[in-house]
Amino acid sequence: MIENTESTSNKWFASWFDTPYYHILYKDRDYTEAQHFMDSLTGYLNLPEEARILDLACGKGRHSIYLNSLGYNVTGADLSENSIAEASEFSNETLGFKVHDMREVCENKYDAIFNLFTSFGYFDDDADNLKTLKAIHSSLNETGFACIDFMNVDYVIDNLVPEEIKTVENIDFHIKRYVKENHIYKEIKFNADGEDFHFTEKVQALRLADFEKMMEEAGIYLLDIFGNYKLQKFFKSQSERLIMIFK
Ligand SMILES: C[S@@+](CC[C@H](N)C(=O)[O-])C[C@H]1O[C@@H](n2cnc3c(N)ncnc32)[C@H](O)[C@@H]1O
Repeated sequence: MIENTESTSNKWFASWFDTPYYHILYKDRDYTEAQHFMDSLTGYLNLPEEARILDLACGKGRHSIYLNSLGYNVTGADLSENSIAEASEFSNETLGFKVHDMREVCENKYDAIFNLFTSFGYFDDDADNLKTLKAIHSSLNETGFACIDFMNVDYVIDNLVPEEIKTVENIDFHIKRYVKENHIYKEIKFNADGEDFHFTEKVQALRLADFEKMMEEAGIYLLDIFGNYKLQKFFKSQSERLIMIFK
């Protein structure tokens, strides 16, 4: 159990991801690319037919739903009650969703656990990152593999757009991005439904060496690293993603 439930609910990642505005801002996410990534990843992992997959921090379940359409038995888990409620509309016998904090160990064991699209590095306390890695590790079955798909911090910092306005569904999202104290911040201000909002995404600038250190501490074996959704080689300065496969 996560003991600090009350303080968790005050955290940016508990509130922002649970609002409808988060989903509006990011509604143009590339679904085709996400699906190709899942094709490549499941092919690379050579998962058995009907493998049990946990999509950890699944959001509204875009990867879970697609993985299930490939025949896998999928559980999507996320902290956001609203996202899980929406994803659950797609549930079936082999696709389920649940509200779950990634720091907690799951009841079941999985053949694969995926943590996708920079769904890591949100916690103030480093111990929580370690806790998450350990929880993933102990929720894998003996032959299972896990994947964390994180941003490549060096690429993101080099290509940071400090300010922009994005208009989606008639909402002007004023976005500021900056790096401070080893975190990448994104401030999002907008007026919607007659109210002013201000949210701040704050993600730890974790590089490969940081993950390697944490993984070693968690007793995890890092097997492979890729730099994009086509699973091509990772290059520190050029790759868009840092995709780690471990067991
Ligand atoms: C960047 S979104 C990615 C969502 C999804 N993987 C996708 O690709 O669309 C990060 C997700 O992490 C979830 N999240 C944040 N903190 C969490 C936690 N402690 N445990 C589980 N999920 C969490 C958020 O609710 C959000 O859905």
